[in-house]
Amino acid sequence: MTDQTKKAVDLFSEAYARSQDEQDPLSSFRSQFIIPTISDLHSKILVPTFQDQPQQCTYLCGNSLGLQPRLTSQYQQHYLHTWATKGVYGHFTEIEDSKLPPWLHVDDDVIGDMCHVVGAKKNEVAVMQTLTANLHLAMASFYRPTAERWKIIIEGKAFPSDHYAVESQLLHHNKDPATSMILLEPEDPENPILSTRQILATIDKHADQTALLLLPGIQFYTGQFFDIPTITAHAQSKGIVVGWDLAHAAGNMPLQLHDWNVDFAAWCSYKYLNCGPGSIGGLFVHERHTKVSTASSSSRPDYTPRLSGWWGSDKSSRFAMENLFTPIAGAGGWQLSNPSVADMTALRASLDIFNKTSLAALRKKSVALTGYLEKLLLASTDVKDCFSIITPSDPEQRGAQLSVRLSPGLLDNVMHVLENKGVVVDERRPDVIRVAPAPLYNSWSDVLRFVQVFREACKDASDKKNQKQTEGSVMVEGGKDDKGWSEVK
Ligand SMILES: Cc1ncc(COP(=O)(O)O)c(C=O)c1O
Repeated sequence: MTDQTKKAVDLFSEAYARSQDEQDPLSSFRSQFIIPTISDLHSKILVPTFQDQPQQCTYLCGNSLGLQPRLTSQYQQHYLHTWATKGVYGHFTEIEDSKLPPWLHVDDDVIGDMCHVVGAKKNEVAVMQTLTANLHLAMASFYRPTAERWKIIIEGKAFPSDHYAVESQLLHHNKDPATSMILLEPEDPENPILSTRQILATIDKHADQTALLLLPGIQFYTGQFFDIPTITAHAQSKGIVVGWDLAHAAGNMPLQLHDWNVDFAAWCSYKYLNCGPGSIGGLFVHERHTKVSTASSSSRPDYTPRLSGWWGSDKSSRFAMENLFTPIAGAGGWQLSNPSVADMTALRASLDIFNKTSLAALRKKSVALTGYLEKLLLASTDVKDCFSIITPSDPEQRGAQLSVRLSPGLLDNVMHVLENKGVVVDERRPDVIRVAPAPLYNSWSDVLRFVQVFREACKDASDKKNQKQTEGSVMVEGGKDDKGWSEVK
């Protein structure tokens, strides 16, 4: 491209977005997902009336709930049919034309592919429970307070479930959260990013008394991606155990949990992993914590203490119904219960899609697509006073999501317009909308449509706000004489 043609490119044109989509090597993945139509989104019944040419919505909310892969219902049919026709034999029966293994092995079946997603060895991942439950199970093993070290460092704006989990762990050990929870707060409230420098300094300050550091891979509100290897190594060098909540990072960022020497991590599968609401979670435990010594007839095996259940016990003796818990060597030894086959089936479908590409290819597209979103927003000078982007501008410090902070008083109206026009993003009060182009199913055209509608929404919301303010000041003027000030509060 010459300099002249480069200049002529209009990023806001539909032709440009379409041409980018045509050149996208991952574009065919979009058709493997069910994208809701606008009328389906607005309908209050399960099966809406037939429409000639239903328009797909613009879905940029995979950071909250990923879309349904078409494979999911096919695989769920296999599962339901097996259950219907085999009953309990479904646990053991190999079915030739089913995409699923006997239920007894559904957990093992997904491990290899899940390890790939988070950069772990096969013995370091368990697919089990849910995110908050897994954080608790990990803390039961790795938060072992002593008289010298008992504090937990966490962000002040952590996802509330993580805050509650940490607080309750402290209370469980008779520690006072007010003095034992070290909350990392942004230095500048206008820029709610936590720099690595600040995190390392906080670790240094509390190192002698801190037992555990728990941080998110990607911060849910700002979209900031933390420097996991640097922070992990630094905290560990001070004797602190390090855990990561990867809710917004799993399936979004290439991760190397084993190489980064992370102690433990937990994640969910309903965001970028597209397994459906509340679906099964994941747990990573570094292999140095998962060794199990052989039990003798007189002594129990030696292993990292944990809260246990039968599914974590040695598979070969699981049905022997003896009372000697012998954990599976590996993260699998943290499992409690037999897993939901419906959840595992959804995960199998999801991972079969991830297997058709690579996280490197997805990340490459993601950087470009989120970069396009950022460029369009920054070039939307007509509404520049309505918002700012709080996610770091450095692509290395973010994943797919941009968090857009609206000027006070605009959020409700902006969301109202977006929803009406079939643009799906989510809001985080008081003033942020999160916009996440997921590289598996989003396109340049989606991003362009979002920005077009967002600009309309900002203009509409500002007009309404100005109108309200004008009416308010008229009331104030009038109020002075005959209505009183209280009317305008
Ligand atoms: C960062 C983060 N942590 C924890 C949770 C809680 O997850 P769960 O309800 O699966 O335990 C969420 C849910 O969205 C989240 O985004």
